[in-house]
Amino acid sequence: MIKLTGFKKLRTAVFISGAGSNLHNLIKFSFLKKTPIKIIFVLSDKRKAKGLRFSKKYKIESKIYNFHNKLDAENRILNDLKKRKIELICLAGFMKILSKKFIKKFNGKILNIHPSLLPKYKGLNTHQRVIINKEKYSGCTVHIVNNKLDSGKIILQKKIKILNNDTPRSLAKRILKYEHILYKKAIMKIYSNF
Ligand code: GRF
Repeated sequence: MIKLTGFKKLRTAVFISGAGSNLHNLIKFSFLKKTPIKIIFVLSDKRKAKGLRFSKKYKIESKIYNFHNKLDAENRILNDLKKRKIELICLAGFMKILSKKFIKKFNGKILNIHPSLLPKYKGLNTHQRVIINKEKYSGCTVHIVNNKLDSGKIILQKKIKILNNDTPRSLAKRILKYEHILYKKAIMKIYSNF
């Protein structure tokens, strides 16, 4: 177990694109006494991302980046992360694919949560594909981000049984609850590697 007394918290940035329930979960986690993270910065590629209400509510600096020109957006982000001495990036429903160059700059320090049992069902529309294929189980995965989509080293996974009457929507809702638990556990697990 990692001993979390008198320790240095990781300066963390959370990247979002949507509802932000994972962001909300991480913010609450960051307020706990024995948390290893301090959320310094929230960024979104979408001006209307609902999750931005959480950074506002908890008074965490947030910024929106237009990805029309990806290279330019990434350069601006890298600059802003450097200024804020960010050590850990948590992708939380962030829908843009980061470039090799960006990932290299934060090698091993970018986490992502994906709503499937990776390596199965990488990419989008996971729950729909899982149900169409009549899978018995699904779940969620926290992994380190590398150059290939949803393919980096797996930190933790949670497996759940698919119910007979599950729809993509009901499955997404059930898995999301586990995502929130898993993300916190995964951060605790990797903390000692920093
Ligand atoms: C989550 O299911 C996450 O795994 C996926 O997108 C969803 C984002 O949800 N990548 P939220 O914005 O955190 O509520």
